[in-house]
Amino acid sequence: MIISIIGASYVGLIIGVCLAKAGNEVALIELDLQKVDAINSKRSSIYEEGLDELLNKVRIKVNSDYKEIENSEVVFVCVGTPSNEDGSIVLEQIENAAEQISKVLERKDEYCVVVVKSTVPPGTTEDIIIPLLQKSGKKVGEDFGVCVSPEFLREGKAIYDFMHPDRIVIAGYDQRSIDVLVTLYGDFNAPILQTSLKTAEMIKLASNTFLATKISFINEIGNICKQLGIDTYEVARGMGFDGRIGSKFLNAGIGFGGSCLPKDLGMLIARARKADYEPGILVEVSKLNEKQALKLVELLKKHVVLKGATIGILGLAFKPGTDDVRDSRAITVVQNLLQEGAMVKAYDPLAGENFKKLFPQVEYVNKEEVLNSDAILIVTEWEEFNHLDYHGKKVIDGRRILKAREASVYEGICW
Ligand SMILES: NC(=O)c1ccc[n+]([C@@H]2O[C@H](COP(=O)([O-])OP(=O)(O)OC[C@H]3O[C@@H](n4cnc5c(N)ncnc54)[C@H](O)[C@@H]3O)[C@@H](O)[C@H]2O)c1
Repeated sequence: MIISIIGASYVGLIIGVCLAKAGNEVALIELDLQKVDAINSKRSSIYEEGLDELLNKVRIKVNSDYKEIENSEVVFVCVGTPSNEDGSIVLEQIENAAEQISKVLERKDEYCVVVVKSTVPPGTTEDIIIPLLQKSGKKVGEDFGVCVSPEFLREGKAIYDFMHPDRIVIAGYDQRSIDVLVTLYGDFNAPILQTSLKTAEMIKLASNTFLATKISFINEIGNICKQLGIDTYEVARGMGFDGRIGSKFLNAGIGFGGSCLPKDLGMLIARARKADYEPGILVEVSKLNEKQALKLVELLKKHVVLKGATIGILGLAFKPGTDDVRDSRAITVVQNLLQEGAMVKAYDPLAGENFKKLFPQVEYVNKEEVLNSDAILIVTEWEEFNHLDYHGKKVIDGRRILKAREASVYEGICW
């Protein structure tokens, strides 16, 4: 099929290379010219396992020109949906993309399907995106189709996840657009769920807020366990064998970050409030997550006077396998340390450059040099941190790195 993808970052670029590999003709439309140049020279602007190799194997067009849509049968919308302070979505990117698509629809005679991949609150496609597309003078369901098909990939495993989804959710305004997407996804070995547009939008938010809830839940259990002198990880193992509970997302620690879980949680809270419902559980999940990162610094203060001390940070990415620092717990931790008058040295195998844009005052060093600090905080669970020599060090561990237990002072956040 001939496919255009609007927005070429974590989601758009991955979908683009994967669909190109599957034999489709793919054009990426991206406003950020640095990203366009990078992709054109076969370098991805983000780190993702296997992405550069795939980018070098496939033929893919990328530029900033919406004209590409003129020949497309499918247009994926993968622009960012950041949030306001109150959690509600900033619509600017999605509105701009819909308006630009609408201008091309005006002069396009062949039917095409616009697919919303970006995560949006329930109702957004019907209330905002479709009206903007219809400004073209063309009619949804007749001249063009609209689908919502949320993306569930995990950063760090994005290519694998896109190619091997647990399920594919397809919500179509019209049957014809559903048929187009079912054909496109025909070779994927996954159940396909057909729902209403709003339901598909809600499935994405409910899935991510459930995962966030599971993490905050185990962190709450972990905080209680620590008070009672019980090892949370043994408790989680005992729980995880229960098929109703499952063992995934039961790693107690300093909480969740990234561009999805905190944002999607805030988005659903804001959407519920707009509908006059106060989502008590979700609000507490978010509050506990904020407190958890600060708890690491509180524990540190039991062992070190922060003013004038040098604190080493191991890990800056929001999780291993990515260079993404959006909403990383490291941000809260470093902010807090600097406010308390500490100096910070940090190491991350991939995310140093991105973190430096936020905190130029931090000293970025190699991992051995981080160990030469008054105390060390483990913030991301990179495997390589299991191979360092912690003897004689003070370590406060937010992510359960077993080797760090050899430190002369060792304390885990929930154990
Ligand atoms: N990152 C993830 O792991 C993930 C997973 C599932 C779903 N999502 C959702 O998918 C969407 C995209 O996520 P992301 O992490 O790739 O976002 P992102 O913010 O990293 O990237 C969005 C890209 O769109 C570009 N853009 C913005 N407006 C544009 C326009 N009008 N035309 C062309 N390009 C435009 C931006 O320059 C940017 O490169 C979000 O809604 C996100 O919540 C993300």
